[in-house]
Amino acid sequence: MSQSLHDAVGGEPFFRALVHEFYERVWVDDVLRPMYPQDDRSGAEDRFRMFLEQFWGGAATYSEQRGHPRLRMRHAPFPIDPTARERWLECMRGALDVLDPAPLHRAELDDYFERAATAMLNRNPLI
Ligand code: HEM
Repeated sequence: MSQSLHDAVGGEPFFRALVHEFYERVWVDDVLRPMYPQDDRSGAEDRFRMFLEQFWGGAATYSEQRGHPRLRMRHAPFPIDPTARERWLECMRGALDVLDPAPLHRAELDDYFERAATAMLNRNPLI
């Protein structure tokens, strides 16, 4: 059986650090920060970390605690236009630069985040 990406990049400590670095950037971003719960950063970090660990082959704690991800529906209250998507990806790329996973894992993560962020778009600035 091949090793999951979760385990290959270092398991929970990797995702904990990645999500922390990501939120360090979100918290100083004028477009993103207003969307996030101002008084529950550690809760937000936990939710995102558990989701990512589960997605990449780690423990299924996210679904045990939060149910089906239904991420598009959960993001519906937040105005995610192309600018917000790009800011979000900049925060994630900055966090990945710090963690510096091996090139093949980095490519897989970049590709996934770009596609997932596109799927979250829910505002079209042209209409
Ligand atoms: C939650 C914004 C993209 C995964 C949230 C929250 C906000 C947000 C404001 C609420 C924080 C909380 O209380 O947990 C955005 C924006 C995005 C984006 C502006 C720009 C495209 C993504 C992507 C993923 C993702 C690409 C997956 C790879 C999650 C997860 C949660 C979450 C798992 C927690 C859901 C829950 O269980 O409540 N996001 N998000 N988000 N986001 Fe995003």
